[in-house]
Amino acid sequence: MAVAVAMGDLTLLSQAGSPSRGKKGGSHLTPPGKSSPPRVIKANAWSTPDRYELRGRIGTGSYGTVREALDEEGGRMVAIKRIHSVFSNKINSKRILREVAILQRLDHPYIVRLHDVILPEEESDALYLVMELGDADLKSLCAQEVYLEELQVKFVLYHLLVGLKYLHSAGIYHRDLKPSNVLVNQDCNVKICDFGMARAVGEESYDQEPEPDKAARVMTQHVVTRFYRAPELILLEESYTEAIDMWSAGCIAVELAEMMESYSAQDRGPLFPGSTCFPLSPDWKHKKDVAFHSEGCQEQLNVIFDVIGTPSEADTSRLREEARSYIRCFHPRLGSGIQPRLPSANPGIVDVIEQLLRFNPNERASAEEALTHGIFSEIRNVSKEVVAPGYITLEFDQEPDLTEEQWRQCFQEEISGFHRARLGR
Ligand SMILES: Nc1ncnc2c1ncn2[C@@H]1O[C@H](COP(=O)(O)OP(=O)(O)OP(=O)(O)O)[C@@H](O)[C@H]1O
Ligand SMILES: [Mg+2]
Repeated sequence: MAVAVAMGDLTLLSQAGSPSRGKKGGSHLTPPGKSSPPRVIKANAWSTPDRYELRGRIGTGSYGTVREALDEEGGRMVAIKRIHSVFSNKINSKRILREVAILQRLDHPYIVRLHDVILPEEESDALYLVMELGDADLKSLCAQEVYLEELQVKFVLYHLLVGLKYLHSAGIYHRDLKPSNVLVNQDCNVKICDFGMARAVGEESYDQEPEPDKAARVMTQHVVTRFYRAPELILLEESYTEAIDMWSAGCIAVELAEMMESYSAQDRGPLFPGSTCFPLSPDWKHKKDVAFHSEGCQEQLNVIFDVIGTPSEADTSRLREEARSYIRCFHPRLGSGIQPRLPSANPGIVDVIEQLLRFNPNERASAEEALTHGIFSEIRNVSKEVVAPGYITLEFDQEPDLTEEQWRQCFQEEISGFHRARLGR
């Protein structure tokens, strides 16, 4: 079958000439795309159990550091993420507990698998997540002189959409989808990672708590890294749907497709590299100057409209009046479309990207719809496109204010539940 033959040929990293992660006997590896060697971390700074033989650092983010390790008992390589400041404030505690709880309830080959959770006695404010190890994240791959065949691009995008279909069927919005949170293996399999911003829709989130203070409300809109942020989030719409993740997937798809064009790694980059995001994080010098934000500047929405065009009256009709009047400040334009950005790409790939990058979230393709696009017909395997058994709900999210001691208790319960579930498997 075409799929099996093609899969055998799909090797992404060999072209990069960099060693792949996950060799049991391997020494410290330079993470793909990063030229400097991993910073040496004192072994005693990490209080992980002896079964994990720690290796080099493979990633850092705003909440943690990720290292490769050999799990001697499991006989496999793993990734361990150390999250700091777990109990420093209630927003952090809730966010991190959500990450743990959501990850442990997800069960899909294209979502990174959680192997273990460790709340060390030696460190009062840290938590370790032991996960399956991915080969590289898409951001670091894009930064390398790696070129993809069209078939490889289709496979990676297809797998990302299959993962998203499952995630959304479980009622989870990722809310921070970006290339660095998409791990890609040498066989073009994808593992969506970093659920630090994820939310279960069944839950009562802190933006809906009675009488939220202003900072908390603004905070909840501050999801999704700016370049990948959907227009409805930029416009501070109070209710949004899983379509925010589909917008991010469209942005990611462009960067992925660029890997098959003859762009050098330095010329690749985000489709919408806005420098400010009015009204959430305005350019302070022009804080109240609406016209400034709509004319020829690198304002996130302006950069978006240059490509997709300004929205129609019908597309803005569901928005709040404040948002509508802001949009009227932008001079009307049709937008360049995606094709000029990917001049030699298959029109089918451009079409699926345009369906993901529609201003109106109701018109934007869902993961399920995108999977039916003709470009995937030769690789599609419907039996992989599974849905979750039901919505994930997080009981602790219903709790009012908790003390640090109570948060610790919630973590203990979550971790015990995780260990019980693993024993039962
Ligand atoms: N399971 C894994 N396998 C391989 N690499 C991983 C894994 N998990 C994370 N990484 C690497 O570590 C990086 C940081 O991890 P992660 O995104 O989970 O941290 P974070 O602090 O929540 O990041 P952010 O700044 O996006 O909020 C990722 O971009 C990726 O390069
Ligand atoms: Mg991340």
